[in-house]
Amino acid sequence: MSQFLEDVLKGLSAKEKYLQSKYFYDANGDKLFQRIMASKEYYPTKCEMEIFAQQTNELVAVLTGQSKEFDIVELGAGDATKSIHLLKGLLDNQVSFTYFPVDISANVIDLLHYELPKKLPALKLQGLNGEYFKMLEKAKTLPDKIKVVLFLGSNIGNVPLEKAGEFSTSLRAHLKPGDLVLIGFDLKKDPKTILDAYNDSSGFTRDFNLNLLLRINKELQGNFNLDNFYHYPTYDPATGATKSYIVSKVEQQVSIGEKTFGFAKGEPIFMEISQKYTVEQTDELAKQTGFELIHHFYDSKKWFLDAIWRCV
Ligand code: AVJ
Repeated sequence: MSQFLEDVLKGLSAKEKYLQSKYFYDANGDKLFQRIMASKEYYPTKCEMEIFAQQTNELVAVLTGQSKEFDIVELGAGDATKSIHLLKGLLDNQVSFTYFPVDISANVIDLLHYELPKKLPALKLQGLNGEYFKMLEKAKTLPDKIKVVLFLGSNIGNVPLEKAGEFSTSLRAHLKPGDLVLIGFDLKKDPKTILDAYNDSSGFTRDFNLNLLLRINKELQGNFNLDNFYHYPTYDPATGATKSYIVSKVEQQVSIGEKTFGFAKGEPIFMEISQKYTVEQTDELAKQTGFELIHHFYDSKKWFLDAIWRCV
């Protein structure tokens, strides 16, 4: 049985049904995520892009102040449009490094191998297609240089707050003292702004969530009828958790291969969490999981934080 099938059956058999957001990213999901990022409501990408585009020299200075030579591993590289500013800045400053983009989407890695050499001919590049920690294991077998791990886009938000410590601890366990992490956090802000980012008026986020049901239909012989479900995004300003659900409009049965799942009218499937942080929470996370804070980078609105941490 594929891991995807196993995870889907497990999630839909649970008392509170859930699916894992890492499965959003098939070719169609990648496309929809691009549209989300370009939508007027989804601000995180724009904020972080501003940091990378306008503070490139400062980013280069802080990193090269720590080490003159390193390798860069980017977890969840996507189209690398943010990191490309940093990569170019480093190349312009004659820093020697190899760039290892890691992504769960094979499609994304293929695209990077095709596109990046056109934009940065001098870049040493080796894509790694797979899950974060499996690929970090692989990265351990690389020549022993200082590693700079990029974990941008507030991808850490997909880890629930109570598991973030565990996640950061395993990240630390895959690294050595002196290695660096450049990690992006979406900060708590006006709740309406946050909710709108996960409820864009064009419906890209809705389609992005529903696409996982389509993917299950296509790849796992499912028969979800998308007309019988709707997308329900929430934001809780007290906890900072943005959660997305898909809700069954009617009482219905859905089959996936040989298995059948019953849905009550109004029953949710929990799809994704995007946790928002205060700066203090991120500092605390670093301290408690074996990192020392080196620098904070903010966008002009202070909506987004890119922190540089060093492994102690
Ligand atoms: C790619 C995980 C950072 O949680 O904001 C965007 C994914 N989901 N809109 C996020 C996403 C809905 C995004 N991350």
